[in-house]
Amino acid sequence: MLEVRHLSKSFGDRVAVADVSFVAETGRTLGLLGPNGAGKSTIVNIIAGVLRPDRGEARVHGAAVDSDTSPAKRLVGFVPQDLALYEELSALDNLRLFGSLYGLAGAELDARAASALGVARLSDRARDRVETFSGGMKRRLNIAAALLHEPRVLLLDEPTVGVDPQSRNAIFDTLAELRSGGMTLIYTTHYMEEAERLCDRIVIIDHGRVLADDTLDGLYARLPAHARPVQQVVTVRPTLESVFLELTGHRLRDD
Ligand SMILES: Nc1ncnc2c1ncn2[C@@H]1O[C@H](COP(=O)(O)OP(=O)(O)OP(=O)(O)O)[C@@H](O)[C@H]1O
Ligand SMILES: [Mg+2]
Repeated sequence: MLEVRHLSKSFGDRVAVADVSFVAETGRTLGLLGPNGAGKSTIVNIIAGVLRPDRGEARVHGAAVDSDTSPAKRLVGFVPQDLALYEELSALDNLRLFGSLYGLAGAELDARAASALGVARLSDRARDRVETFSGGMKRRLNIAAALLHEPRVLLLDEPTVGVDPQSRNAIFDTLAELRSGGMTLIYTTHYMEEAERLCDRIVIIDHGRVLADDTLDGLYARLPAHARPVQQVVTVRPTLESVFLELTGHRLRDD
């Protein structure tokens, strides 16, 4: 289980995250949904131990993630929003490099790299240089890199942005496989349909604050009657977009 308690973080006088708390249950997928600048990356960077909060803490299976050496950090895998790969190395050599940073070596490292490449649907491209990969394949390799140390919680920061539909589906297959293996997923996105499709629970963030924290059905139920489609009981479901608009007064994206 991942627990985030009263996280706050400012950059100068800009408040990025303001008193954010939520709980992600083991084996479930929690979505952090919010527009540009909402604070999603700041939150996951804090959970990953990359950024220090001004206040509050993240706990994984009861242990605080508060420094590079904290044991809880090894329970967390992080797929950052910005890719961190060596273009001139092969996929396999990138994973060997990242694995060695976790103290893995030899046959164990090779076995884990092979397994991670399989989960990321990249086994057939293991020996190709990353510079020959599509944007989607690089994203998938980034996911593989986060799996090498066999984390229990995986943080994914907008993993499908700029990804072609085929890679997007491959990422969804990967996530389904990880979920069925009992991994807890934290998935940040500004795509409503991804949050609706993938997440058991959705935390809606705007201006660094939690506006709602609920299941999809719970979020739909928050809509006042006038905002729900009339035929709702028959076929038409309310949309997450309408919930977001109701809570924030603005659309998630103008496009
Ligand atoms: N290193 C930083 N220095 C200064 N301001 C920052 C820094 N990182 C984030 N911010 C600011 O904090 C706020 C939250 O940013 P954050 O990147 O967490 O949002 P986000 O929800 O991930 O947005 P996006 O959808 O664009 O990735 C924004 O106003 C951003 O400009
Ligand atoms: Mg971000």
